Amino acid sequence: MSEMVDRTEILKNKRLILEMKNMHKTFPGVKALDAAQLSLREGTVHALMGENGAGKSTLMKCLFGIFDEDEGDIFFDGKKFKVNNAKQALDHGISMVHQELNQVKDTRIMDNIWLGRFPKKILFVDEDKMFHDTKEIFESLDINLDPKRKVRTLSVSEAQMVEIAKAVSYNSKVIVLDEPTSSLTEKEVSHLFRIINNLKDKGAGIIYISHKMEEIKVISDEVTVMRDGKYIATLNSHEVTTDEIINLMVGRDLTNRFPPKHNEPGEVILEVKNIRSLVQPSVVDASFELRKGEILGVAGLVGSRRTELVETIFGSRHMEKGELILHGKPISNKHPEEAIKNGFALITEERRETGIFGVSNVTFNSIIANIGEYVKGPFLDEKKMVVDTDWVIDSMSVKTPSQKTTIATLSGGNQQKVIIGRWMLTEPEILLMDEPTRGIDVGAKYDIYELMIQLAEKEKGVIMVSSEMPELLGITDRILVMSNGRVAGIVDTKETTQEEILKLAAKYL
Ligand SMILES: Nc1ncnc2c1ncn2[C@@H]1O[C@H](COP(=O)(O)OP(=O)(O)OP(=O)(O)O)[C@@H](O)[C@H]1O
Ligand SMILES: [Mg+2]
Repeated sequence: MSEMVDRTEILKNKRLILEMKNMHKTFPGVKALDAAQLSLREGTVHALMGENGAGKSTLMKCLFGIFDEDEGDIFFDGKKFKVNNAKQALDHGISMVHQELNQVKDTRIMDNIWLGRFPKKILFVDEDKMFHDTKEIFESLDINLDPKRKVRTLSVSEAQMVEIAKAVSYNSKVIVLDEPTSSLTEKEVSHLFRIINNLKDKGAGIIYISHKMEEIKVISDEVTVMRDGKYIATLNSHEVTTDEIINLMVGRDLTNRFPPKHNEPGEVILEVKNIRSLVQPSVVDASFELRKGEILGVAGLVGSRRTELVETIFGSRHMEKGELILHGKPISNKHPEEAIKNGFALITEERRETGIFGVSNVTFNSIIANIGEYVKGPFLDEKKMVVDTDWVIDSMSVKTPSQKTTIATLSGGNQQKVIIGRWMLTEPEILLMDEPTRGIDVGAKYDIYELMIQLAEKEKGVIMVSSEMPELLGITDRILVMSNGRVAGIVDTKETTQEEILKLAAKYL
């Protein structure tokens, strides 16, 4: 108890570095911000939470001058703050590490950091100074990278580290991280958290956006919850429970994170025998069976070729060797069109890159995988299109002003929900899902699990690749563990433990 009081006291004594008050922003058909507010203290990590479409990114975009708020005030360091673009914000010491990093791939790390303000020696760029300054920042952050390496060769987490180093090089007092850990390994996440704590100790204020509930209590000091563009509450992260945060986010009790399950796996529907894919990184050897009415999880470390496994089955990756047997008959799935004809659907991991038709509306994006169903002679069956799109919007709780809204204007998570709904509409025999709940809020996760269970109850087969241990253990019947391109083991979900899965994941390293 005394420790808690201490923490609250310490928090109270920290100076406010950034205040956003009474923020309003309306888009056609949506009030994205409706009296939103945020108060960030220096030397703290402040989690910003809310369901998909709650207004988190919009609030940040107002801070960076990407959007112009209709009403509201921003104070930075006690002074009124207003910029017109992200570069100006950076010059003032407010920076953002985006999820989609837009670095210049063909340049070196150090060029990226000092772009537009290279140190000069008379007329020339002072390479030595640039190298040593970069090195110094890296050392202070415990980042072990050669400043002369090409950006192209960096992994996602390394590229992110470089962005953070860049923020530090601008002496940033406020750093915004929007879903920074969504594609990091556990080890990379702990490194990132060390860096964040280090920045915080140096006095920076950090705004942290994430849908991973487990992270919030570990990394943040305070949490602000938004709902429907409104400010709901700011709480001390150490005094609030995860369930309380969730209830504030969704505005109702959601004590069970997983829906009840009544599916009963039956006979084998799909046999996968010794498949191997050609292009690196490849599936080396994988065999397993999927049953009717079964939800099979696929676990493994980043790089264990789980995505490659489902892509090979779906035909978007060339199968060099091996067999697929559906309902006892060999099939080939040479390309995705053939797989779709055979009753397969694949919800890809990089939905934003590979799945969205950005300039088109929600209707088009909902029905496109099934377009043949809507052709009636020379016409399109508009009525069926409307009914089916409504189904997608309802069953996935998509937050959109209308069916005709351009999908690119929906929040990141809501775009993803449309893509998932699109494939659910095709009523696949075998549904392959790659990280289906990444970037999706807790309420919508529940909806997705329900749809998976419904499919299983209709005797379909579901394969779900996931990096989230709670959902693997909460929703699947069995879990296949990949390790370095091979199947390291298949375990019964009811009987397994997190430890057993992690051990299998390391089997062929
Ligand atoms: N450029 C835009 N034009 C029209 N509407 C927009 C635009 N950007 C955002 N919106 C709308 O504003 C609302 C808030 O979206 P925002 O992206 O801020 O949500 P978010 O909290 O970041 O959600 P997520 O967790 O899914 O990223 C949504 O209803 C979205 O559709
Ligand atoms: Mg967002």
